[in-house]
Amino acid sequence: MKKMLVASAVGSLMMIFASSAMAANAKDLAHGKEIFGRVCFACHATGAAGAPKVGDKAAWAPRIKQGLPTLLKHAENGLSTNGLMMPPRGTCGDCSNDDLKAAIEYMVSQSK
Ligand code: HEC
Repeated sequence: MKKMLVASAVGSLMMIFASSAMAANAKDLAHGKEIFGRVCFACHATGAAGAPKVGDKAAWAPRIKQGLPTLLKHAENGLSTNGLMMPPRGTCGDCSNDDLKAAIEYMVSQSK
C-alpha cells in the first residue's frame, strides 16, 4: 500500500514536471512565431532569395540534420551557399540569440 502511494506521488510529480516543460516549449514557439512574423517571414514564408520555405519539408530536411547549434550559428553569422544569401541575423539587428533560436525552432517545428 505504502509502495503504491509512493509510486502515485512520483507519477503525479512527473506529470507536473512534464506539463511545465511543455508549457515552456509552447511559449518559446509562440515567441519564435512572433519573431518569424516580424522578420524572417519576408524570405522564409515565400522562398524569396531562395530561402527554404517554412513547411517545405524537402528543403528543410538536410538543414535540420545539421542540428540546432549549426542552424543557429548560420543564422547568427549569415550563410551564403550556391549564390543564396541568408543575411547575418536574418536582418534582425536587435534580435538576441535566444530570439533567433526561438524563430528557428518555430520554423523547424513547421517544416518536419
Ligand atoms: C533576406 C532574406 C532572408 C531573411 C529576412 C531571413 N533569411 Fe534565413 N535564409 C535565407 C536564405 C536565402 C537561406 C539559404 C542560405 C543558404 O543555403 O546558403 C536561409 C537559410 C536559413 C537557415 C538555414 C541555415 C542552414 O544551415 O541551412 C536558417 C536557420 C535561417 N535562414 C534562419 C532565419 C531566421 C531565424 C530569420 C529571421 C530572424 C531569417 N532566416 C531571415 C534568407 C533569409
